[in-house]
Amino acid sequence: MASCRTSNLDTWCQQLSPTIIGQYSLDGNRQFHDDGRNLARIAVDWNEAHEKEVNFDLNLAMDQVQRKDLNEYFNERLTHVEQWIMRHPECMRPKPDFVTNRYEARILLTLNKPDTLVLHATKVAGTIYLCSAVTLQDRQNMNASEKYLRMGSWGFKFEQFMTAGSDPSTGNNEKESYCLVVRAQLSEHSILYGAEVDGVDNRAPDGLPRSTDLIELKTDRLRPSARKQSMPPYKMCNTWAQCALVGIPRVVCGFRDDRGVVKRLRSFRVANLPSDSKGFFSPGAMVDSLSEFLQWVKTQVEVDSPQAVYELTAPDGSFRCRRLPPTEAEAARFLSRDFVKAM
Ligand code: A3P
Ligand code: MG
Ligand code: MG
Repeated sequence: MASCRTSNLDTWCQQLSPTIIGQYSLDGNRQFHDDGRNLARIAVDWNEAHEKEVNFDLNLAMDQVQRKDLNEYFNERLTHVEQWIMRHPECMRPKPDFVTNRYEARILLTLNKPDTLVLHATKVAGTIYLCSAVTLQDRQNMNASEKYLRMGSWGFKFEQFMTAGSDPSTGNNEKESYCLVVRAQLSEHSILYGAEVDGVDNRAPDGLPRSTDLIELKTDRLRPSARKQSMPPYKMCNTWAQCALVGIPRVVCGFRDDRGVVKRLRSFRVANLPSDSKGFFSPGAMVDSLSEFLQWVKTQVEVDSPQAVYELTAPDGSFRCRRLPPTEAEAARFLSRDFVKAM
């Protein structure tokens, strides 16, 4: 059975074949830096075959937190990948079929709420750029309650607890992030994306991370009576997709009580998440659907021009594509003029 699982992982890795080709950091003002200054080193100092008991109060210094302004966040679109590509033009040889963010790639891989999907697509110099538009759901999240915002900040505070050399009693600047640039291949489609990642194992060597050293951090609700802590299947599915698209092998989850105190840490192998979820999701079917979707997008997004913006939706579960009329397209254009010129 164990060898069967290993060969499944190999199959999905071979199918997506994510290769790390670069990195960048965003500082506390969301300014781009062409380096790995914000790479977090994560201290995993226990035998991961077991759970570890801890007492991490995620409410610490909550009054000093600097949150991302969601509006500003959505307005970023593909800005940072564009900036990275302009500094590393060699990464566009050979030209990828698609460029996007891992955020969009993850949504397309899981498609758990297809009716809320709104993507914009533009073809420039043979490459199709995919970017999510702000949806109704996003607008509702922007008006989130204080309690929802606080719970959102718990996840970032957990990252601070897990990061070597970081002091959780100080306010967190949630705008800071670290991203990898990944090139992947889905059957005949090549795709390049920027992916925010949580960090590497503290023991990893310096330099551009190897995928084997990457760690994804998550929090979830503690089930005090459970023999072993676990995540709900939908979360395993999202986490699997998020990790598989980068080649992240390991997830460390902090299980918190309802007051936001992490009591238990548990490590998961990404390769085991499909079976841990008891078949809730099928990586093979997900990868196949994504590559079919990309094939379909290629047939729809025909005009090669930054002025042509297409809107992709799936109101009833099946995809629709509409070329936006000129005034809507002008408002929806998302690639910077400098970037288009450089391509
Ligand atoms: P959890 O995943 O532990 O809940 P990521 O795990 O993708 O690195 O994200 C880090 C944290 O950002 C999440 O921690 C969560 O707290 C917050 N977060 C991510 N996406 C969010 C969303 N759509 N709404 C609110 N908070 C979000
Ligand atoms: Mg993260
Ligand atoms: Mg995380």
